[in-house]
This record gives sequence, C-alpha cells and structure tokens, in this order.
Amino acid sequence: MHPAPSSASSLPAPKGPSELRAAALAALLDPDPASKQAAVQGLYSAWGRGELTIDPVVDRAATEEARGLAIPGRPSRPLLVVPNALLRRAMNSAEGRAIGLHALSHIEFNAINLALDAIWRFPGLPPDYYADWLRVAAEEALHFDLLSRHLQRQGYAYGDFPAHNGLWEMAERTACDVLPRMALVPRTLEARGLDASPQVRAKLWQAGDRAAAEILDIILRDEIGHVAIGNRWFAHLCRERGLEPVATYEELAERYRAPRLHGPFNLEARRAAGFTEPELAALQAAALSYNHKSE
Ligand SMILES: [Fe+2]
Ligand SMILES: [Fe+2]
Repeated sequence: MHPAPSSASSLPAPKGPSELRAAALAALLDPDPASKQAAVQGLYSAWGRGELTIDPVVDRAATEEARGLAIPGRPSRPLLVVPNALLRRAMNSAEGRAIGLHALSHIEFNAINLALDAIWRFPGLPPDYYADWLRVAAEEALHFDLLSRHLQRQGYAYGDFPAHNGLWEMAERTACDVLPRMALVPRTLEARGLDASPQVRAKLWQAGDRAAAEILDIILRDEIGHVAIGNRWFAHLCRERGLEPVATYEELAERYRAPRLHGPFNLEARRAAGFTEPELAALQAAALSYNHKSE
C-alpha cells in the first residue's frame, strides 16, 4: 500500500454529519471545488482517527429529502457541452496542454463526486466498501488538487474551458443499482483511464511538461487501486447474487450503453488492478469485433 492520499493526517473533521454516508452526501452537494476537496480530505482523516460512525442500512436515496437535490454540487463553470463541441489543440502548444490538463482536472472533479455518490447512495454493503470508496474520494481530491494547481501555474483555472459530462451521465444511468455502478464506472470508465494514461503521459513529457508527466504517474498508481476496488466489489456482488462475472459484465455493458473499448489496453495495469485472464480475453475479443465492424 502506498502512503495515504492526504499528508495532512491531522485535518479536522468537516463541520456537519458525523455519520460517514450522510457526510459523503453533504460533501457531494458542495458546489465549490476547493471546499469539496477540503471536506473529503477532512473526512478521510476523521475516518482514520475513528471519529465517524457508519450506518450501512439507511436507504438515503429513497427518502423524500433526496428528491430534488442538485447532485452533484458543482461550480457554474466549466460550461458543460456535448463531447463534439470540446476544444481540441495539439499538446505541443501551451494552450493545447492547458486544454488537456483542464479536461483531466474535470475528470478528477467528477471522480470525487462519483466516489462520494458510491458511499451515500447504496445501502447494505459491508463497512469495507464504504471505507474503500472514501479512500478513492480522498485520492481523487488529491488528483484534482495536483492538476488544478498545475493549471494555475500555467495561468489558467478550472472552469476556463468547456467540459463534457460523460462520467456523471454514467453515474445517473447506474444510480438504481450498485452492481452496474461497479461494473461500468470503476471497471469500465476508470479502467479506460489506465489504457489512456501512457500515451497522454508521453505527449506531456515530449512537450517538456515533466511536472505534468509526474502528476500522471501518481494518478496512474492510484487509479490501479480504484479499478481494483471496483473489481473487488463487482466480484463480491456477483458472488452474493450467484452471477457469472464475465457474462454479467457483457450484459450490463450492453443494457446500460457503456462506451465500447477499442484498445490498445494497458494489460499490465489491468492485471495489477485484478482483472482475471478470462475478463481480459473477453475485453480483447470484444474490441477485435468492434474494430472489424468499424473497418
Ligand atoms: Fe483520479
Ligand atoms: Fe479514480
């Protein structure tokens, strides 16, 4: 295990609920990136000191108060647009790199929200599930902090460019059940980040932005852990429900319209994240068949 995401292990617990799932919802609703990030890191520290309780039973999403909540809390900028409307520039220009780093910051901001949502929304899981996702939330807050500060050093800020909402749309589609959520958010969208990371890192390095390349190294290291957590709980749920994991994944990907993964795959990182050989073989076979169809 690598060191905890926040070096500030003495951060105070945020003001508000002392029950972890209620506190995760409060942080999710916070629209301000800096205070959301501080709330998450404060929660992670408080959890480590044993200051939070956990109620895995209450179904918060089914309550009257949960209806009409503005989830997730987010700032008024960036403007959310459809993916085709996004700005694209080559990474060898300063503005192009800033646009790329901004897109990564937005992924991390959404990833904080996704981890908090996994905690508050789904009842009935073992305490380790909630602790795992709190760790993910704290690591995503660190990634957002590293990237948004780096962006500021280039003279830009989070919110300066438009962004798309694909990650959160998958969260909404899978809000009904933790099984598709685990299958399609960490094991599909975060795992796609493992595949993309080496190329993005190489472009940043070639462009001379070594600090950004080093941030990507930290992110890749942590993201392997996030995908592993997705695999852990997907496997747990499949066992509990008597489902076969490979066929179940394929069925869920189809039903919830998951993006098709075309490769190339970062098999080393995927193995480190706990994908089994039958899962990797099925992934590669599916990619081969999409690639043939699109030729
Ligand atoms: Fe991340
Ligand atoms: Fe992640």
